[in-house]
Amino acid sequence: MSFSDYRTALVTGASAGMGAALVERFCKEGLTVHAIARRQDRLEELAARTGCIPHALDMTDIDSLTRLLRGLEIDVLVNNAGAGRAGSIPSASAEDIDALVDLNVRSVLHTVRTVLPGMMERDRGHIINISSIAGHYNFAGNTIYHATKAAIHMLSRQLRVDVLGKRIRVTEICPGRTETEIFDRNHGVTKDEAREKFYEGYEVPSASHIADIAAFAINLPSYVNIGLIEVTPTFQVPGGLTTLKSKAQ
Ligand SMILES: NC(=O)c1ccc[n+]([C@@H]2O[C@H](COP(=O)([O-])OP(=O)(O)OC[C@H]3O[C@@H](n4cnc5c(N)ncnc54)[C@H](OP(=O)(O)O)[C@@H]3O)[C@@H](O)[C@H]2O)c1
Repeated sequence: MSFSDYRTALVTGASAGMGAALVERFCKEGLTVHAIARRQDRLEELAARTGCIPHALDMTDIDSLTRLLRGLEIDVLVNNAGAGRAGSIPSASAEDIDALVDLNVRSVLHTVRTVLPGMMERDRGHIINISSIAGHYNFAGNTIYHATKAAIHMLSRQLRVDVLGKRIRVTEICPGRTETEIFDRNHGVTKDEAREKFYEGYEVPSASHIADIAAFAINLPSYVNIGLIEVTPTFQVPGGLTTLKSKAQ
């Protein structure tokens, strides 16, 4: 399979960052691209620039989401919409937990549940899930986010089992730090503070690198499935081990 074997795509979280870059790339490759996000003005600007079909929708509104998806025939699905919240479990509010589970996990499961049967019927499809290194490694800061992204990692593996025997590929793209809007949107800092704290002085992949990686996986023959790609800055490694001395000593 390659782009020429597919006609349509759906990208969630399309109004910024990786989602917008994926829409732009898929449109250039000749696909009819459906783009979902909440901010209508951003989507309209993207549509004017790329020719994508905008759908202003909150992914956590599962009824509206399902109604929209039932009317679409999708060959390439990118589950990209996602959010993070800083903090450990003891510092988390009930709303923090519900918001991240609803967007990062629940909306993805419902999207796949609705889109996959059509792919199976047509024996054609590629699902790309954007997870995170937070779903694979433990490091301090965003425990709920880690848990939701670990769910996306296992969903990606499990979907391969569910579609075995069909020409449907499943690829998990697992990014480390990537230059998008996620840090100022989700960590309670301004755009300038986010740039200074997370990007200035760092060499960091951009959203277009993620789009290039997705395009590479799609362009391989249908009998080649890339299951998982981890992509981080060269100067970023997960790991580290913390051992505390007992206070009694
Ligand atoms: N950037 C990184 O360093 C990094 C690292 C690892 C993983 N990731 C993952 O990469 C994916 C893309 O993130 P990004 O970095 O490109 O973030 P971003 O720039 O903040 O973009 C997030 C997108 O999701 C959309 N979105 C958020 N809540 C939504 C909702 N309820 N319904 C519909 N759309 C919603 C936003 O649009 P609206 O606000 O208009 O709805 C926006 O288009 C996420 O899954 C994220 O967890 C990012």
